[in-house]
Amino acid sequence: MKAIRILFVASLLAATLSCAERKPSTVGASSEVERRVDQLLSRMTLAEKIGQMNQVSAGGEVANYADALRKGQIGSILNEVDPVKVNEFQRICVEESRLGIPLLVGRDVIHGFHTVFPIPLGLASTFDPALVEEGARVAAVEATGQGVRWTFSPMLDIARDPRWGRIAEGSGEDTWLDARMAEAMVRGYQGDLSDATAMAACIKHFAGYGAAEGGRDYNSTFLTERQLRNVYLPPFEAAVKAGALTLMTSFNDNDGVPSTGNVFLVKDILRGEWGFDGLVVTDWNSMGEMIDHGFGTDRKDVARKSLEAGVDMDMMTYGYLSHLEELVHSGAVKESDIDQAVRNILRVKILLGLFENPYVDVEAGRAVQYAPEHLAAAQKTAEESAILLKNDGVLPLKADAVRNILVTGPMADAPHEQLGTWAFDGQAAHTVTPLKALQERFPGKVTYVQGLKNSRSRRERFDDVVAAARRADVVLVFLGEEAILSGEAHSLADLNLKGAQSDLLAALQAAGKPVVATVMAGRPLTIERDLPHCGALLYAFHPGTMGGPALVNLLFGDVNPSGKTPVTFLRTVGQAPLYYSHHMTGRPYNGETLLDEIPEEAGQTSLGNTSYYLDYGAYPLFPFGFGLSYTTFAYSGIALDREAYGTEDTVQVTFTLTNTGACAGTEVAQVYVRDLVGSITRPVKELKHFERVALEPGESRTLTVGIPVADLAFVGLDGVKKVEPGEFQLWVSGDSASGKPVSFEVK
Ligand code: GLC
Repeated sequence: MKAIRILFVASLLAATLSCAERKPSTVGASSEVERRVDQLLSRMTLAEKIGQMNQVSAGGEVANYADALRKGQIGSILNEVDPVKVNEFQRICVEESRLGIPLLVGRDVIHGFHTVFPIPLGLASTFDPALVEEGARVAAVEATGQGVRWTFSPMLDIARDPRWGRIAEGSGEDTWLDARMAEAMVRGYQGDLSDATAMAACIKHFAGYGAAEGGRDYNSTFLTERQLRNVYLPPFEAAVKAGALTLMTSFNDNDGVPSTGNVFLVKDILRGEWGFDGLVVTDWNSMGEMIDHGFGTDRKDVARKSLEAGVDMDMMTYGYLSHLEELVHSGAVKESDIDQAVRNILRVKILLGLFENPYVDVEAGRAVQYAPEHLAAAQKTAEESAILLKNDGVLPLKADAVRNILVTGPMADAPHEQLGTWAFDGQAAHTVTPLKALQERFPGKVTYVQGLKNSRSRRERFDDVVAAARRADVVLVFLGEEAILSGEAHSLADLNLKGAQSDLLAALQAAGKPVVATVMAGRPLTIERDLPHCGALLYAFHPGTMGGPALVNLLFGDVNPSGKTPVTFLRTVGQAPLYYSHHMTGRPYNGETLLDEIPEEAGQTSLGNTSYYLDYGAYPLFPFGFGLSYTTFAYSGIALDREAYGTEDTVQVTFTLTNTGACAGTEVAQVYVRDLVGSITRPVKELKHFERVALEPGESRTLTVGIPVADLAFVGLDGVKKVEPGEFQLWVSGDSASGKPVSFEVK
């Protein structure tokens, strides 16, 4: 009896000590959760532990997986969204396996579930984290309503090369914007973890995946540690601090090391420095692909390397299930590492309440799909997302003045394509296209001539469309690229409008009627050659289910465009990569001579030796943070509360924003900062704050924004993240290329 009592006290002491030693949980796990994790783990066999680390894509019949489920060989499934099947999967686990551990059911809910929102690049264009959070919450309500409790979103990959198809899936080129969007989506998806609509977020792809050489998906990246820490990792750290429950490793090898086996990235930074105690899952077979990378000899080898790196769950390599038991028995891996992985998995399952409530209420879940308030949120997001890039005054159109609207172009009535990439569960039947929205709003006044079947269609003449244009009051042409032309594995080497789209636009303009172009795409296309052929151009990164009504409201002025570019628009693809927060270089471009201006027999050094392209210069077509409105805004009175600050201070910047136009509008005021001199060279400017400001015509508002000096910290030559004293400049403007700086000093 005494021995048992001693044992009990000892285990209690150990549990207490282990809790005391534990870092604060980034996923918000209490000591009670940890006790439950430890208690369950202590009852698990090695085989059952390894089973939890195995994730299977289970879109088929439940019976195919029943045996493995009963044996506890599957810890998570993805790609099952039939709630009845999900419940059957869970029932087998809960009622027929030895320990009754429920499954974690995952799905790529990337920008909405059934109700599809604009693609993430479009979400970022809103510069409205609160609205994006609301959309993520809608996605969680619909997805959990069908049994999904884990989404593989948000994607945080900084993308500065629009050739990369997955630029569609992230928040663009800027670290600050990306981090704010990441926090918003994590909060939106996860909400209150005690609620059945809580859906675990998965921040991905860790890390540096968007820097693929040549913009070619899955290609190698060569980011230095400083570049990782100063540009690519901060959004992930922000999302971890926001409580993200899970993270996914990326396909790419960075500087020769694939992320799924990267001890420095996962174990040292994510776990060691940030204390992340959530679940780390591989990308689809990214464990197995380390063999293709030449980083492992076989599945056993890459399974070992993944566990060593701190990866908890294996998506579709079956490396853990096939080899971990043998690796433990051979001493090649420690069971304690497996225990740690299983703790992370059980912790997420307990936090989501899956043990108490593993089943989905099928009827209640069905009732929330496509709810009116969901569609309204999607429409509002699409309205805020669209970016007005050109307007010679033709917009906004006057609804009471149009008698005959010609609608044309391959994206005018493309319900599937309008949803964009990674819209697995969006149903085209629910999409409202621009054509449908126009026909509904202007019955009998819309003529539709498709013009081109799709974006790649070729055509010599457009007689039918031109004839229709001549009879119309205004031509609305919808161009761009189908969903399939962006997203995973869909990189492009040429970013011009495909097929005969530019010819169609030119032909329409020649018809002599006002032409308004709307481009729907998954990336910033190179549209410089198209701009002269339209009076206005509205850019909508695939706007989702309610894109039609949103675009019509914008075109007719019911809503004033407020979107801003989350990524730089190039003049030509040859300029890639080009982004606003570049370094100055020793020879910054200063508008030097371009090809057409080069004199005869020009001397070798006569053109100015700076960093630019002779044929296209070094300025973009549209800079980051740019977007027009139907009104105009003016910034004035930009002033700082002091001339010098300490590293613990906050810079208070005051400015007045005036709506100098004739209609109400919303401006995204942006604050950029430049660190003039550092132990390493620094970007010419970096976004450090943005906010949407709605103003009535003629209205002025004076705002004061606090920029903590701590936000200017970076990892310098000594590898330590800190603010370096010196001279700084600060801009307040409506985009990254305008405004005059004010100066301040950090002592
Ligand atoms: C894909 C993607 C990843 C996605 C996963 C599951 O290959 O890279 O973003 O979440 O597989 O579908």
